[in-house]
Amino acid sequence: MYQDLVDISIKIRKISLQLGSPISTPEVIVVGSQSSGKSSVLENILKRDFLPRGTGIVTKVPIRIQLTNSGKPNSLPFVIFQHQPKKIFYDFEEVHSEILKETQERTSNGAIVDDPICLNLNAPDVPNIILVDLPGLTKNAVKDQKEDVPLQIELLVKKYLKNKNCIILTISESTQEIVNSVSIKLSKEYDQKGERTLNVLTKLDLMERGTDVCDILNGEVIKNGKGFIPVINRSQKELKRGITYQQLIKKEKHFFQNHPSYCDISDKCGNEYLIKTISKLLAEKIQKSIPTLKNETEKLLLKVKKSLSSYENPFEITEGSKSGMMMLIFTKYVKEYSKLIEGNSNQCSN
Ligand code: GDP
Ligand code: NA
Ligand code: MG
Repeated sequence: MYQDLVDISIKIRKISLQLGSPISTPEVIVVGSQSSGKSSVLENILKRDFLPRGTGIVTKVPIRIQLTNSGKPNSLPFVIFQHQPKKIFYDFEEVHSEILKETQERTSNGAIVDDPICLNLNAPDVPNIILVDLPGLTKNAVKDQKEDVPLQIELLVKKYLKNKNCIILTISESTQEIVNSVSIKLSKEYDQKGERTLNVLTKLDLMERGTDVCDILNGEVIKNGKGFIPVINRSQKELKRGITYQQLIKKEKHFFQNHPSYCDISDKCGNEYLIKTISKLLAEKIQKSIPTLKNETEKLLLKVKKSLSSYENPFEITEGSKSGMMMLIFTKYVKEYSKLIEGNSNQCSN
């Protein structure tokens, strides 16, 4: 039922966008300092490597990825970019190059760009979800960057944090002092009740022998949002060696299950648990935003109906215009959506 809600709300978003009155759908953003592992965490959800990633290689432009589950186990995964809608990318090396090329073009004057590069990934093994990869927070500008780049990035990140309809993933390295984590500080500012924030600790494999993050996991060091989840991503070396997501998950499981500090809580550690928790949080978020969404969709529906009635013969629209067709599809989704919403609110009151 939850997944249905997420699916339809994403469909409504897509169509409302094309109708020119976008209805916001919850999305997941990653916030953290440079090289904390933001892109790595997202790639574990994408199950493919095409984001700009690595030490020194930084995400300079937000990348918004709409994941669509194809629903067919054998379907070929593909990507379509919003800035190039006619081309279908089946080769993820090419997707990677296209992102780099687009980043180059948009940032050639050294500035940080707010407008995201948008792409759609259609694959059989991804959840229906919208992910946004953001530039990393930093104290100092690097070589050919303008001096105010750190501030620009902070402003950009804040813009995304402000959207009450987004789930915040703070990304912090387990090898750094957690009390200094800027992402946690920022998320606290924008999500004071801690309802839409989940904290991720990366690089557990790089911690010194004999040390662990148990006190953080127990909430004894710092309290924020819905708590902390420790993960291990692929190192640069493992990436070069072509270690796959499946291999990583195996290694990660082995690490947590056999570690004296984590063996008792290993089912609450790792990327798979993180992905499950994100989906749950997302569904809760949609559930909570139903009254607003219902309102927004009804308003748009009214607008749609009005323009529909301006056609003398309503059958013209299906043949004549694409937007007429879209309106019909939209109406259908809103109906489906309303049904689901009713079902859900009944469940809640029981
Ligand atoms: P971002 O700048 O926050 O997006 O960070 P990236 O995802 O690009 O990661 C920065 C570097 O750290 C890359 O070389 C990754 O391979 C490496 N890295 C990220 N997470 C981990 C981890 O959990 N363990 C190890 N060993 N390396 C990691
Ligand atoms: Na990086
Ligand atoms: Mg990155």
